[in-house]
Amino acid sequence: RVVITEKNIGDWAACYVANKILEAKPTARTPFVLGLPTGSTPLGMYKRLIQFNKDGIISFENIVTFNMDEYVGLDRDNPQSYHYFMYENFFNHIDIKEENINILDGMAADYKAECARFEEKMKTVGGVDLFLGGIGPDGHIAFNEPGSSLTSRTRDKELTADTIIANSRFFDGDINKVPKLSLTVGVGTILDAKEVLIMVNGHNKARALRQAVEEGINHMWTISALQMHKKGIIVSDEEATVEL
Ligand code: GLP
Repeated sequence: RVVITEKNIGDWAACYVANKILEAKPTARTPFVLGLPTGSTPLGMYKRLIQFNKDGIISFENIVTFNMDEYVGLDRDNPQSYHYFMYENFFNHIDIKEENINILDGMAADYKAECARFEEKMKTVGGVDLFLGGIGPDGHIAFNEPGSSLTSRTRDKELTADTIIANSRFFDGDINKVPKLSLTVGVGTILDAKEVLIMVNGHNKARALRQAVEEGINHMWTISALQMHKKGIIVSDEEATVEL
């Protein structure tokens, strides 16, 4: 399903998430499990969810979260790490319990063990109920770069030159400062979620959106794997639809 909205996609996504949480009525024993992204795209959604929490509309007390990805080699205090991003833009402002937050550790000595631990933890809580995400201009979800297996699981993944250039805007525009390796959930990990909601905005995502919905399923555009999901939703602004 593709939803094209004139209003802010972040507001749309936040309302969607809030409704899901209200419907699920999560408890400590049966938490609601969210998969969460970083990037500029989800910022509006996080702002609105913080507001809903402050206004007492939703609580995150019984929400468990799993972040999609993290750069290798950046510790949690590094402002460019996804750890830092998540606390700064979301977790520090809501009533979530620290023990319910799961983020891959980019400083782990053993990546394989760290990724396996993450997948295992997801299983223990009964899987992800709703995976939220954005896409890169090359159509990657999380850090599943072009060429990733569509059945991939959480693992380390080298970033492509395109992604390093796109993300250098967060590293003083210096591609040499961008980590070359990431830990990321796999395409298969995302597809295992009961529901997946991907946010797409702006002209520079237009080609990826076309590949996602109008072309065939293709491992060079990993977002296209969403076509295989029973409850895959893309919410897009008008600008990103110019190639449809
Ligand atoms: C990074 C992240 C992706 C994210 C993408 C888009 O590459 N690993 O998960 O979707 O950036 O970021 P933005 O929303 O800033 O365009």
